[in-house]
Amino acid sequence: MLRAVLCAVFLFGALPSLARESRGHVSVVLLGATGDLAKKYLWQGLFQLYLEQVSSGHSFTFHGAALTAHEPGQRQMFEVLKKLACPSDVSPDRCAVVKDQFLKLSRYYQLKTAENYTALNREIETLLQQEGLEEAGRIFYFSVPPFAYAEIARHINSSCRPRPGAWLRVVLEKPFGHDHKSAQQLAIELRTFFREEEMYRVDHYLGKQAVAHILPFRDQNRRFLDPIWNRHHVERVEIVLKETLDAKGRTSFYEQYGVLRDVLQNHLTEALLYLAMELPANVSSAEEILRHKLQTFKSLQGLESTSAVLGQYQAYASQVREELQKPQDYVTMTPTFAGVLIQLDSLRWEGVPFILTSGKALDERVGYVRVLFKNRAYCTQRESWREAGRSQCGTKQIVFYIGHGELNSPAVLVSRNLFKPVMPEGSWKEVADHPQLHLFGHPLSDYYVYSPVQEREAYSVLISSIFHGRKDSFITTENLLASWEFWTPLLESVTQRAPRLYPGGLENQHLLDFEMTGRELSFLLEEPVELLHAKTQAPSDYKTIQAKFRQSPLVSAWPEELIVRLASSGEFHLALSGGSSPIVLFQRLAMHHYGFPWRHTHLWLVDERCVPLTDTESNFRSLHDHLLRHVQVPYLHIHPMPVHLNRRLCVEEDRGPELYAKEIAALVSNASLDFVLLGLGSDGHTAAACTTTSSGTSKCPTSTSTPCRCTSTGACVWRRTEGRSCTPRRSPP
Ligand SMILES: *[C@@H]1O[C@H](CO)[C@@H](O)[C@H](O)[C@H]1NC(C)=O
Ligand SMILES: *[C@@H]1O[C@H](CO)[C@@H](O)[C@H](O)[C@H]1NC(C)=O
Ligand SMILES: *[C@@H]1O[C@H](CO)[C@@H](O)[C@H](O)[C@H]1NC(C)=O
Ligand SMILES: *[C@@H]1O[C@H](CO)[C@@H](O)[C@H](O)[C@H]1NC(C)=O
Repeated sequence: MLRAVLCAVFLFGALPSLARESRGHVSVVLLGATGDLAKKYLWQGLFQLYLEQVSSGHSFTFHGAALTAHEPGQRQMFEVLKKLACPSDVSPDRCAVVKDQFLKLSRYYQLKTAENYTALNREIETLLQQEGLEEAGRIFYFSVPPFAYAEIARHINSSCRPRPGAWLRVVLEKPFGHDHKSAQQLAIELRTFFREEEMYRVDHYLGKQAVAHILPFRDQNRRFLDPIWNRHHVERVEIVLKETLDAKGRTSFYEQYGVLRDVLQNHLTEALLYLAMELPANVSSAEEILRHKLQTFKSLQGLESTSAVLGQYQAYASQVREELQKPQDYVTMTPTFAGVLIQLDSLRWEGVPFILTSGKALDERVGYVRVLFKNRAYCTQRESWREAGRSQCGTKQIVFYIGHGELNSPAVLVSRNLFKPVMPEGSWKEVADHPQLHLFGHPLSDYYVYSPVQEREAYSVLISSIFHGRKDSFITTENLLASWEFWTPLLESVTQRAPRLYPGGLENQHLLDFEMTGRELSFLLEEPVELLHAKTQAPSDYKTIQAKFRQSPLVSAWPEELIVRLASSGEFHLALSGGSSPIVLFQRLAMHHYGFPWRHTHLWLVDERCVPLTDTESNFRSLHDHLLRHVQVPYLHIHPMPVHLNRRLCVEEDRGPELYAKEIAALVSNASLDFVLLGLGSDGHTAAACTTTSSGTSKCPTSTSTPCRCTSTGACVWRRTEGRSCTPRRSPP
């Protein structure tokens, strides 16, 4: 049986379905025909395409290619082809017939040298001639690593282009670069061989049925969505891809990419665009969709390092060391988990958080896009709470359920208290029998649930789109570069950030939960000490450092610990500093400690810069922004340094330091502040700056480039214009 098939294949002989066609011949060349992707999805997708198109008037040949020599390559390829299966709606008889034809139309080629490509081209030409076929076009599917792209592209351009009048479509698989620059280089290179309309860059997420249905759903339900698809009604959007698997066996790839490049830059960003873009008047027009997508990139607010929380499952580092033969002390910062907050500057979406999350070694495998609506209703009757899922008081959400998870199939869910959606008959069906499932806090019966009539692999969907030349399911060069332009600053800003370690699976518990505060994301829980990298172990509790400052001990502690100490002191004088390190403490104080005795607290400044108090460089301004405006300290208890007197800054005759010293002397018994917080600037300087030498002169720290001078409290006033060394005008009180 096999021998007969191979023989027929080799000669492309006796092909009944070829000659009588009139709509033209399509040659599909699959490069990497024996690779994993081809085995798992691509051949099946091509077979499905053939099944659908076999009586469409087109004729096909399938040319599998790889570097492997002819005989072993052919054997491997046909091993895969023999296992091809038909969808359940195809009868076994028809399946057997079509499959037999498909095998006869498939051939293996070794494609290594320029001659091999010329020979392939000659063979296609000969076949067309012998059978008297018009050529419709050629598809070249690159299922090969990106370093091989350029050479293959060169060969195709120089010897495998179809005659004028027939199309060429080349299909490219990610990664398309690892940052903006590399993506641009690859794009420039490819552009010398192919025209933009010839390139189909795959993001297989766009072939997932639930993702592919976002735009049609928005279009068909305009009448319900128009009033609510905006910042006034949408509370937030979550775009999620969780995996249970880890990166074991793939670390050589993963170590270079990490979760941001592997999932967020492409799959999740694409889903975001479908959700957030302005809907074109004609959603069948690929051109309009692509244009609107591109416009959406322009409205994305730039990401900062605080827009992301990052994690790494604990076994990752040792897997990397083992697989990549790295030394025992090799440290990897590659994130395997990320949460990123994206916001848009558009009238429609301003202020609505889009949260993108993905990770390996998590508790479940699931993907979804969830739109959660604000709830404005107040329900008076108890009864409406009992049926919260259907009453106006219940949660309102629309979920595009991409797959896996508890539902274990693609689906579209719409809360019943929203509207009954219009779904295309024939391709989506309502799921009426509700198993005892709860999704997103609600029994499935609280939703209208639809699933595809026929579940399809993303690759089958995409291969069909390639055949039909539907470019909107693919990533254009402009789209790709815009995406990298958006992600690259974040990627660069986190290269040195140690991700939070997590144990993996259910054991992660709440370790990776995070929250939004304004435009920032942060983990909800402190990182447990035992999980910290051994090298960067931080002090775990309140400690006395072996040093004294003006006869008092210097201490160091985590914010929580400090707050406990501070809060227990009752009425007291607190001197706070600038720098970046106190900000964490300020935020904690501001957000979580309503019980803090603010009414009995005086606030002083340890140091100040020689700028107006409203200047962003001002320490007081920082204190104000991060703490004062969130708490209720009596106005008269706030004591900024008088740097600005007589409408001028830090002029000695104005005697600012003396004034401040007097104020302290008047209000603080023995001029002894109860607690002095010394901050650390990002350059490592601290405000414990002025050291008085035995001769009575004081010196400001040398670790900072900002000039400064001493105040009578023994702190420094930073000046932009003066020299560095300084002398106190008189000894501290
Ligand atoms: C590919 O090209 C090389 C060198 O031109 C040749 O030796 C080899 O036989 C070719 N392979 C096939 C399968 O034609
Ligand atoms: C692509 O092919 C055309 C036509 O054969 C040729 O003129 C051109 O130089 C090729 N491009 C590259 C970059 O090789
Ligand atoms: C929408 O776009 C498709 C594809 O370009 C086109 O065939 C169709 O005519 C357009 N419909 C309208 C109403 O313009
Ligand atoms: C102020 O200092 C004096 C002398 O050093 C001391 O006796 C007194 O207890 C101090 N008062 C306070 C409130 O610390």
